[in-house]
Amino acid sequence: MKALVLSGGMGTRLRPFTYSTPKQLIPVAGKAVLEHVIDNILAAGITDIGVIVGDRSEKIREVMGDGSRFGARITYIHQAQPLGLAHCVLIAREFLGADDFLMHLGDNVLSEGITEIARAFTAQRPDAQIVVQKVADPRAFGVAEIDESATVTRLAEKPAVPRSDLALTGVYFFTPAIHRAVDRIRPSARGELEITDAIQWLVEDGACVKASEYSGFWADTGNVDAVLESNRRLLDEVRPQRHGEVDDASVLTGPVVLSPGARVVRSCIEGPAYIGPGSVVEDSHLGRYTAIGAGCAVRRTLIEDSIVQDGSSLSDLRRLSGSLIGRTASVAATRRHRLIVGDDSRVEVAS
Ligand code: DAU
Repeated sequence: MKALVLSGGMGTRLRPFTYSTPKQLIPVAGKAVLEHVIDNILAAGITDIGVIVGDRSEKIREVMGDGSRFGARITYIHQAQPLGLAHCVLIAREFLGADDFLMHLGDNVLSEGITEIARAFTAQRPDAQIVVQKVADPRAFGVAEIDESATVTRLAEKPAVPRSDLALTGVYFFTPAIHRAVDRIRPSARGELEITDAIQWLVEDGACVKASEYSGFWADTGNVDAVLESNRRLLDEVRPQRHGEVDDASVLTGPVVLSPGARVVRSCIEGPAYIGPGSVVEDSHLGRYTAIGAGCAVRRTLIEDSIVQDGSSLSDLRRLSGSLIGRTASVAATRRHRLIVGDDSRVEVAS
C-alpha cells in the first residue's frame, strides 16, 4: 500500500504564518504537523509516500528531503493550483498506479495513530474506507451518514444543515476504484474537485464504502486555536528527555523535553513542555504546554500554553499565554506599546 499526503493549499486562516511557511510545517509539540502525519503513516507500515505540494514546495522539501532520514521514499507531486482534494488524486495517478493507498491530509493531527484502522482496511478491503468522528458542529467538514454495519449511505461536503454528526477526518483508504469516481465528478460550488463527492459517486455506483470511528484526539490544524489544542494534546504524550543543560538554580517539574544544546538558567519549567535545540531560557517561567523551537532566547519572561517558532526571542514579558509566535520574531516589553506587525496578524495587548 502507498500513501498520499496532501500538503498544498493556501492556509488563508493561518496568515500571516502561511505567507512564508506552508501550514503543514507549523510546529506542534516541537515537530511540524507534517512530520506527525509521516509518523502515523510509517507506524502503519507504509514507506512509499507521495506528497502533494503547492507554491512553497521548496520549504517542504527542505524539511522532509527524500524521506531516507526516516526510512521512507518520498515522491513530490506538484499541484499548480489548489483545485481540490480529488484533484490531488487525479494528478497523483502515475505515482499511485494500481495500488491501494492511504490518503492523509497534511494538516490533520490524529494523536493515537491510524495503525488499527489501516489493519482493518487491509483485512476487509472495501472499495473505500473513511475515518469519522462525532463533532458538535459538523458544518465545517465533510459529513457522513452510515448504517448499523458502518456502511456509508450518503456523504455531503460542508452541508449547511448536516444530516448526521459524523465528520470526515482527513484520513481515507482507497482501492483503485476511486480513480473512476474522480474522473466522473465535476467541481463543487467552491470550484474544487471534492473527494467527498468522489466517494459519494462510489456509494451511488453501488461500491462498498465503510466508515471507522476514530476515538482518539483529532484536529484539523487550519486555525490558531486548533494548532494550540493539538500542541497541548501532543505534549501530553511526551516523555521527559534531558539532553541540554540545567543550572542548579533551575527547577523542572513534569515531563520536559530539553533538546541537545538547550540551556535553562535560573528558571522554572513546568511540563509538559518542549525546548528546542540550542535555545536558552533565562530568569523565566515556562508554564504547562509551552513549546519553544530551535535557537530561541527567552529572558525574564513568563509564558504558558504557547508555541514559539525557531529563532525567535522573548524578553521581559509579564505573562504570555495562548500565543503563537512565528519564526525569527522578537517580542519584548517596553513602557509603551510599539508594534511592528505583519499583514493579517492578530495582536491582543493587556491594558
Ligand atoms: O480536515 C478534514 C476536512 O478536510 C474534511 O472533513 C473535509 O471533508 C475535507 O474536504 C477537508 O476540508 P478542508 O476545507 O479542511 O480542506 P483544506 O482545504 O484545508 O485542505 C486539506 C489539506 O489538503 C491541507 O493540508 C491542504 C491540502 N490541499 C487542499 C486543497 C484544496 C491540497 O494539497 N490541495 C488542494 O487542492
